[in-house]
Amino acid sequence: MVIRRGGRQDVRFLRDMLHHAYYWRERDPGEEPGPVARYVKGWGRPGDTALIAVEDAFPVGAAWYRLFRRDQPGYGFVDEETPELALAVVPSRRRRGLGDALVRALCDRARSEGYAALSLSVERDNVALVSFYEKHGFERVVEDGGDGVTMLRVLHPSADEQRANI
Ligand SMILES: CC(C)(COP(=O)(O)OP(=O)(O)OC[C@H]1O[C@@H](n2cnc3c(N)ncnc32)[C@H](O)[C@@H]1OP(=O)(O)O)[C@@H](O)C(=O)NCCC(=O)NCCS
Repeated sequence: MVIRRGGRQDVRFLRDMLHHAYYWRERDPGEEPGPVARYVKGWGRPGDTALIAVEDAFPVGAAWYRLFRRDQPGYGFVDEETPELALAVVPSRRRRGLGDALVRALCDRARSEGYAALSLSVERDNVALVSFYEKHGFERVVEDGGDGVTMLRVLHPSADEQRANI
């Protein structure tokens, strides 16, 4: 397995992975379309960063982040300086460490780009996933009043102050 940087050529794969990551937001067909598409739409904005796990020349997982505006937030929006992370591994390749490797590599990347923190939104009742992220240093910061909980991973000490203001 190798992890490479993603680009515009990967948008289709990111879109597929997005459905895995946010199926719990999309599952009610009666609902208005929410912000799910925002995680990929118009990919290539400043700050957009994706890592793709590749096995035998096929993409098998992706982790990516992007910044959101306050008036067009993602589900795990904290502020306009904190990118939101999305992650998924194709079902047949799970439980082999790819998710771990992708999250670790993406956090390293965000830190080296100078970001103080990364956020994400996760289904509150998905206990296995919440503890997966806790293992990676994410902490619950906001219950969104619905199914979701926002988690924050501090990358630089300055973000502790930011967390205190959420
Ligand atoms: C979350 C996800 C990326 C993890 O990828 P992965 O390659 O299986 O992760 P790893 O093999 O590195 O780690 C597996 C660990 O994840 C945890 N985990 C996360 N979600 C889990 C789930 N739904 N069921 C069981 N374990 C889960 C377990 O602790 C597991 O550890 P174990 O195998 O030692 O028991 C993958 O399950 C996935 O794509 N899920 C659907 C998309 C999603 O929910 N994305 C996150 C939304 S932000």
